[in-house]
Amino acid sequence: MKVSVVGAGLVGATAAYAMTLRDSCSELVLTDKDEARAAAEAQDIAHASPISHGARVSSGPFAALEGSRVVIVAAGANQQVGESRLDLLQKNAAIFREIIPQVTQAAPDAVLLIATNPVDILTDLTVKLAPQSAVMGSGTVLDSARFRHLVAQRAGVDATHVHGYVLGEHGDSEVIAWSTATVAGLPVDDFMKARRLDWNAQIRSEIERGTRDAAAAIIGGKRATYYGIGAALARITERVLGDRRAVLTVSAPTPEFGVSLSLPRIVAAGGVTETVMPNLTDNEKTALEASAEVLRKAAASL
Ligand code: 2OP
Repeated sequence: MKVSVVGAGLVGATAAYAMTLRDSCSELVLTDKDEARAAAEAQDIAHASPISHGARVSSGPFAALEGSRVVIVAAGANQQVGESRLDLLQKNAAIFREIIPQVTQAAPDAVLLIATNPVDILTDLTVKLAPQSAVMGSGTVLDSARFRHLVAQRAGVDATHVHGYVLGEHGDSEVIAWSTATVAGLPVDDFMKARRLDWNAQIRSEIERGTRDAAAAIIGGKRATYYGIGAALARITERVLGDRRAVLTVSAPTPEFGVSLSLPRIVAAGGVTETVMPNLTDNEKTALEASAEVLRKAAASL
């Protein structure tokens, strides 16, 4: 159960650390163009292994990826204050053109899990650069977690018992699909009413803003996000390694939209096996189409 992480920056290293604490895999390799950084991160994380029963952790060149079941790609520039994820496209696409062929040469059978932004378009690009590989992006797994967290705070229940999906772009056009949101099996509105909790259009739009603008708010405060995405990457990876058929809003090529975007997908050992299209309202359908259009336009600029 070998997993590799390409890009030992904050996101890649935090994903590796999360996988070590969660005992997600048996072997973990970090690679980075800054070899000293990868070696130092691997060493630091390896010191958590004896305590957490985690993986054997090491660093190495691309050749060290051989035999990986999953390769997480987190290399590239991250957003700065005031930048959108789409602003990173040209820079990070150039990096992907250089590294993806090296990844597939070393680990031709690995599932490629893309984390670098803009994640949807880089997922598409990776599919083109690695046509033989199973590819998915972390997509809106993190945004769905942010949404559930905010609803859970209002509902006063454990966030693992709140369900609901964020769809479309992992970015400013994402769709908060309220029609998919439930607490204890009840639609959110019904749950809040039954419990006599404060609930109105303003609170709902605060939750939408809090979900959509979470990354910008965190970047404003500490320049980067990495814990949330690190945990999301660990979870997606575990679902692939365990062939769990988990339903996750990963990003994947979606022929009806002509681009990769997030929808609930069944994730198993070979990557995405099926897409489950929720019963969206007309407004949500329109918003999803608009989000796809944002991505198609950005993809066309490559
Ligand atoms: C996030 O949403 C910046 O895409 C990163 O945290």
